Amino acid sequence: MKVAYSIAFLSLSAFSVSAQSTAWGQCAFSINWTGPTTCVAGTTCTVINAYYYQCIPGSPSSSTTSTTSSKPVTSTTSPSGTCAPNSPPASAGTLRFAGVNIAGFDFGCNGDGNCEASAAYPPLTQYYGADGAGQMTHFVNDDGYNVFRLPVGWQFLTGNQPTGTLVDANFAEYDALVQACLVTGASCIIDIHNYARYGGKIIGQGGPSNDIFASLWANIAAKYATNPKIIFGVMNEPHDVPDINLWAGSVQAAVTAIRNAGAKTQLILLPGNNWTSAATFVSNGSADALNKVINPDGTKTNLIFDVHKYLDSDNSGTSAECVTNNIAEAWAPLAQWLRCHGRQAFNTETGGGNTASCALYICQQVAFQKANSDVILGYVGWAAGNFYPTYPLGETPTKVGTTWTDTSLVTACLAPK
Ligand SMILES: *[C@@H]1O[C@H](CO)[C@@H](O)[C@H](O)[C@H]1NC(C)=O
Ligand SMILES: *[C@@H]1O[C@H](CO)[C@@H](O)[C@H](O)[C@H]1NC(C)=O
Ligand SMILES: *[C@@H]1O[C@H](CO)[C@@H](O)[C@H](O)[C@H]1NC(C)=O
Repeated sequence: MKVAYSIAFLSLSAFSVSAQSTAWGQCAFSINWTGPTTCVAGTTCTVINAYYYQCIPGSPSSSTTSTTSSKPVTSTTSPSGTCAPNSPPASAGTLRFAGVNIAGFDFGCNGDGNCEASAAYPPLTQYYGADGAGQMTHFVNDDGYNVFRLPVGWQFLTGNQPTGTLVDANFAEYDALVQACLVTGASCIIDIHNYARYGGKIIGQGGPSNDIFASLWANIAAKYATNPKIIFGVMNEPHDVPDINLWAGSVQAAVTAIRNAGAKTQLILLPGNNWTSAATFVSNGSADALNKVINPDGTKTNLIFDVHKYLDSDNSGTSAECVTNNIAEAWAPLAQWLRCHGRQAFNTETGGGNTASCALYICQQVAFQKANSDVILGYVGWAAGNFYPTYPLGETPTKVGTTWTDTSLVTACLAPK
């Protein structure tokens, strides 16, 4: 989630009302659908769920999938430029992860990396917050979710000091949320929600040194070194980082520190520039720069690219209306690049309002991600935890008696079951 900024209205090429739906467009709707009901050649109108049908590239009786699946790549300039058009393997179709952000410890964090420690608001009843533990238990048991992202400000963990030294009392509060996540059996993403900055200055580029950032991660990783369910999210939404290669060096310092602290096999999420936008991950140079980050043993095993994408008109995640499924602009070119380079990405923030437009487009996005599950590990919705259910992008369930009720977008598109 980032502060709003203005860009041009994104085109809706993947979903326009015409005689035939384009690849990934909608081709029927169970209720009141008046748009096209047939698909362009090379795609098949496929039932996604009770809410919509979608033109999926490929068909049982055809082998012409490359025509449609390669289209987004040719419309995108990649710095690498050499990836041949590619398609998901037949085994793709099931995402490894689906989850929700459990927000609260990040409250007070601004895009300039100012996160006032006292503004952090633990989403736990014992600290007078929402019942984050109960929410996660519900999400796992009733919805089939299996991952939660637990954002926290650097300043909260270190008591407003630009160091790597954890304040025990504060870390104990955050760890209570991590443990509440782990007890559900889900995987738990530790997310430092600082936008590549501390107090307005960029890590390794005028702000805290890479050594300080590495010591922060060494100290956190040491706490969870032996737990395979912990995922290390190196940094939330870097943006306006002038030198992406220097930033990749900061990410490398964190990766080396996490591995050397004993967390040798867990997933580590590597974030690119421009608010981790999935749409510009390749074109803006983040992919090439972060593709050089390695484990101490020289491999890239379990180093996963972290990408975000919202569906509102300025990709800010601040509007309750969605205008795109992001497939042509973001997910298709990204999937091509990832497959070509043997890498994977995890969409750790996405979401929209509890509106008909978001139900349409997010269902389409999730369907595409599932179809490309060989290179896209999954998605994490924004957000529950301490957000009220009335927050425009709220995925916070409400509890009456012993029964939890989900928001409509969770029910329509995001919950795995
Ligand atoms: C379908 O259309 C009917 C008649 O216009 C309307 O009453 C109903 O609410 C619509 N259903 C949905 C789910 O939009
Ligand atoms: C950042 O990404 C958005 C789409 O997510 C794009 O419209 C915008 O142009 C990008 N900005 C830069 C500076 O690359
Ligand atoms: C990435 O975006 C920045 C603006 O945020 C721009 O200055 C830079 O040239 C872009 N890099 C590439 C490789 O496109």
